Amino acid sequence: MSQTELDNRRPIGVFDSGLGGLTVVRELRKRLPDEAIVYLGDTARVPYGTRSASTVIRYARGCAQLLVDRGIKCLVIACNTASAVALEILQAELDVPVIGVVGPGARAAVGAATDMQSQSPRPVRIGVLGTISTISSQAYPRAVSLVSTRHEVTGQPAPLLVPLVEEGWLDGDVPRLAVREYLQRLLAEDVGVIVLGCTHYPLLKQLIREEAEQLAAHPVQIVDSAQATAIAVAELLADKGLGAANATATLQLLVTDLPGSFAQSASRFLGEQVDAAEQVDITPSEATVKV
Ligand code: DGL
Repeated sequence: MSQTELDNRRPIGVFDSGLGGLTVVRELRKRLPDEAIVYLGDTARVPYGTRSASTVIRYARGCAQLLVDRGIKCLVIACNTASAVALEILQAELDVPVIGVVGPGARAAVGAATDMQSQSPRPVRIGVLGTISTISSQAYPRAVSLVSTRHEVTGQPAPLLVPLVEEGWLDGDVPRLAVREYLQRLLAEDVGVIVLGCTHYPLLKQLIREEAEQLAAHPVQIVDSAQATAIAVAELLADKGLGAANATATLQLLVTDLPGSFAQSASRFLGEQVDAAEQVDITPSEATVKV
């Protein structure tokens, strides 16, 4: 086997604040079935979505360094919050290509809004559901404006949805009411496209779609940034000649704490049975880098 083929068999590194980023891994495994993946869930420090940008940047640096030390060929920041505040920093600091979920999600949203525009007399607005940190960072409006200035962006923090999904409350009255409350605020702004800007929300996609259809007086498109990211990673590997053809696709799971419900939660996000994970420490030298 040539050196390039060997290099290309290195895994894709993926990290998230916890297990929610496995929704991105699920899409990566569908789109890139030959690729090995090493996933790090920072389960000891989840959630990131309520923390300050400087703390999330410090955590993201620690996660990224641990994966780089494991010999990854590229890094995917599966966490929307970490992508929103730490992408450019990690891109500047690391020697491997780094991709986040916000850019691909924003591009997919502009694509959907542009498609809808032909049937709408008014400009189609884009709504983003995300954590408090993601929405307050304004990362999605910035990423949308890099692609198009035709579509205004409205952000809606939806913090209750993360614990609901963590608890496995994916349908029934409680998640439905929470989703309705958040959607009412977005739809009052007349959005036509809604971006699921958080790792956990794809598990509520069906419920969000149903509620949006009930509440909106016009058609609403739901954009999943996990799916958009898998497409972007496939393009990145093709562009850089980094694809691993016919390799054995392995998935290695690393966590910074092993929650009791690990196997059940991880399987729910990944959509496959998960049995074991390796517990790792993010050492202070990896995590303590000046912001
Ligand atoms: N992974 C986070 C995100 O996508 C959600 C969970 C958290 O707050 O850490 O923004």
